[in-house]
Amino acid sequence: AAVTGTAAGTAAAAAISAAAAAGIMGAFPDGFIWGAATASYQIEGAWNEDGKGWSTWDAFTNTQSGALRGDTGNIACDYYHRYKEDIKLMASMGLNGYRFSISWPRIQPQGRGQVNLKGLEFYSNVIDCCLEHGLQPMATLFHWDLPLALELECDGFLGDQIVPAFADYARVCFEAYGDRVKHWITFNEPWCTAVLGYHSGVHAPGIRDESGAKTYLAAYNLLLAHAAAVKVYRREFQSKQHGIIGMAINCDWTEPKPTDDPWELKRNAEASLRNIMFFCGWFSEPIFCGDFPEVMKEQCTGLPEFTEEQKADLKGSADFFGLNHYQSQLVEHCPRHMRKGQYFDDMELLLSHDPSWPETDMGWSVVPWGFRKVIMWIHNRYKPWAGIYITENGCAIPGDSEHDTNGALRDTFRIDFMRAHLAYMHTAIQEGANVRGYYHWTLSDNFEWARGLNMRFGLIHVDYKTQERKMKDSAKWYSEVAKANAVVV
Ligand code: NOJ
Repeated sequence: AAVTGTAAGTAAAAAISAAAAAGIMGAFPDGFIWGAATASYQIEGAWNEDGKGWSTWDAFTNTQSGALRGDTGNIACDYYHRYKEDIKLMASMGLNGYRFSISWPRIQPQGRGQVNLKGLEFYSNVIDCCLEHGLQPMATLFHWDLPLALELECDGFLGDQIVPAFADYARVCFEAYGDRVKHWITFNEPWCTAVLGYHSGVHAPGIRDESGAKTYLAAYNLLLAHAAAVKVYRREFQSKQHGIIGMAINCDWTEPKPTDDPWELKRNAEASLRNIMFFCGWFSEPIFCGDFPEVMKEQCTGLPEFTEEQKADLKGSADFFGLNHYQSQLVEHCPRHMRKGQYFDDMELLLSHDPSWPETDMGWSVVPWGFRKVIMWIHNRYKPWAGIYITENGCAIPGDSEHDTNGALRDTFRIDFMRAHLAYMHTAIQEGANVRGYYHWTLSDNFEWARGLNMRFGLIHVDYKTQERKMKDSAKWYSEVAKANAVVV
């Protein structure tokens, strides 16, 4: 249900009062990281400066009109020229962590071979600036902006050349930055790369394929590329650089759709677990346990198989679990041939939203208790030795529009969203989950992929005409949390 900011705020406020009444608010563990997250293509701009090569997103937005309204990331937040200002803003908020991504085509314009020194220098400066301002950098190697040359010459994630290419690129980054970067993420939201890039085609490279074959192949190659990069890190760098490495995986919570029929409810509960396996387990099972989930192996048509050697390389190839979490959904069992596209058909389920759940501007359901459930699910299943990092969580909100700057700065909805989510994250920690940090998505309004510049997820408002940054109320509220290392009720 589309609701007004106020109604959604009221619902979130009710969730938080319940949380407070249950006595679950309070301080976070010492050394907890409070950060913000960004991604290169969404903020940097300077798309053709200083020797950078084209990425698939440059092509998608400039020549394939992939984004709504013709928006591109050509300029975005002009962060390439303004990163110092943004890092200082984070420091002034009292944050102690910053997750950013490295643009592969800035480092290797052709995706392989020659390294662009200007690109290398840029992230080195970003990292130094973070450290000078007390922010621990967490670097993501791939947040969707693949060098276009790799797509054109090697079929992107559909070709096996992505594996050695990614491992080489990763080596360049570990070598250049690993003395200062201690938190590495190989891939961001691999589900999106595989499904949105190679099935529905709403993301670059815009490939539509309903058979499922390309989706499964892209995910398979991505996982092998992850394992290859982790092998490089472990063999050549980890013992001297003492960092940790993992993946940022997106996972909604899925709650079985309620029904009075006990058999139906049982089937919905099975479907709910199946959904988590298809969504998150597709990637987390291989990297923590060494193979695709059993249910995928049973139900998917055309899922590639790992060799024993590949399984051994994958198993344990993440030190921590990076979780990107945005919403929850209801799940019900549904027979095959009801949904479009093999991947969705293979899941045998339908997803929906409870009409009482408030929605964000993206149409995503605000269900703060789902956050606790998904964290506990990950904790119980994997118990990653270096813990769980919330690598993204946030919302684009109704009324947060570019036409009403003053209104956009009074973002009560976002404060309620954050307060409730942090409360449930706190409960999960009390229940034993080893959550080590939280990176809010996102620092400033930016280019929201297929939704263009219109969706505003930022703690900081950006006027795209002047590039002026202004802290929203949520930034000030989050600053109190970071400084106190506690949620202030
Ligand atoms: C996940 C992605 O990692 C990020 O790039 C995106 O902007 C947010 N979710 C919001 O959709």
